[in-house]
Amino acid sequence: MLVSQLPGSLLIALLPVLLLCWADLCHGIPDRHKRDILKQQEASRQIGGRVLLTEKERQLNTQLQKLKEQEMAGPQFPPAMHFFKARPLIQRSPVFNLLRKMPKGAALHIHSLSLVDVEWLVKNVTYRPHCYMCVTEDGSVRFRFSSRQPRCHLQCFPWVLLETLRRKLGNTSDLDDSLMRKLTLFTADPEAAYSSQDVVWQRFEQAFAAASGLVGYAPVFKDYFYQGLQQLHADNIMYLELRSGLSGAYELDGSTHDRAWCLQAYQDVTRQFVFRHPGFLGARIIFTVHRSQTISTMKERMKEAIDLQKAFPEVMAGFDLVRDCSIMATLLSTSSFTVLFQGRRFGFSIGRDQIGPTPPPPRLPHYW
Ligand SMILES: *[C@@H]1O[C@H](CO)[C@@H](O)[C@H](O)[C@H]1NC(C)=O
Ligand SMILES: *[C@@H]1O[C@H](CO)[C@@H](O)[C@H](O)[C@H]1NC(C)=O
Repeated sequence: MLVSQLPGSLLIALLPVLLLCWADLCHGIPDRHKRDILKQQEASRQIGGRVLLTEKERQLNTQLQKLKEQEMAGPQFPPAMHFFKARPLIQRSPVFNLLRKMPKGAALHIHSLSLVDVEWLVKNVTYRPHCYMCVTEDGSVRFRFSSRQPRCHLQCFPWVLLETLRRKLGNTSDLDDSLMRKLTLFTADPEAAYSSQDVVWQRFEQAFAAASGLVGYAPVFKDYFYQGLQQLHADNIMYLELRSGLSGAYELDGSTHDRAWCLQAYQDVTRQFVFRHPGFLGARIIFTVHRSQTISTMKERMKEAIDLQKAFPEVMAGFDLVRDCSIMATLLSTSSFTVLFQGRRFGFSIGRDQIGPTPPPPRLPHYW
């Protein structure tokens, strides 16, 4: 098509382009300088593209790139392996150790019972006095701090005082290792041990149930949270949003504390921690409710959450529903429930726990 056949307005629009092409054609080759500017402009639009690196930062960047290339060229590449097998390699990885030191914004999705390394739970918490343990029918464990022998459960007995058990054993490293295995999902052959999502969920919840007896003991509750903040701070994380069921805490004599006590404890410990570590920005709590509750219980929890947020605006960040997403569809169709949601800001998440042939659930409010 000849240029003269183009409509007038299009011709005007195309004119600069045509002139540019013509100018370049005169030189016979594309203008490298212009191409470089274009590439620079494109790079500046990437995330962090406008950040200018200092000389030292540039050196670090080069070093990091070199370490990454070395790791990729190695015989085992941790990101391509099952996490259980990759974990020891990651812990030894120079890339990981460099990344650990680098500043990171916030940890936004940590559940209260998996905040702290299990090694600390076993080596520190289970060594405290008055710690009892029992083994359930399906081989999981439960813990309880108590000033006297705890009452027996049908599915979990007898309660043994860990101090006595350890004294009898002498060498406690096997016992400690087995406790650590009960508190995590680690196993030598994960594909065989966890044949389906249901199996792994069950083990996951057993591990949380075991940890809850330790973390729920009031003095441990505070130390545990402080320890968690310390571990995050050591990884150069500056802010935490912790998901917690706020299911209370207990004392040696069996007396218990409510959700408000837990929030107060989180608030006190956070303030104390920030005071000692001024670079740390703080921590807030997202109240979590298990989706398997009945609708009326959920409504009650939601109302409770709203009241708790009024009482603890500094530390209470929101409300979250955990586990299987499918029940939420039923919930949302209940009009009185949606009234509770009005005027709240929502976070949305797509069912991350749905892997496999089941279609993903619809997008549903996840937390506020
Ligand atoms: C305790 O037992 C473990 C393995 O069962 C062994 O590796 C360790 O050396 C023993 N520790 C002591 C102090 O004997
Ligand atoms: C356990 O942790 C507490 C802090 O939470 C610390 O004061 C204590 O020294 C630790 N004990 C052991 C045996 O590591």
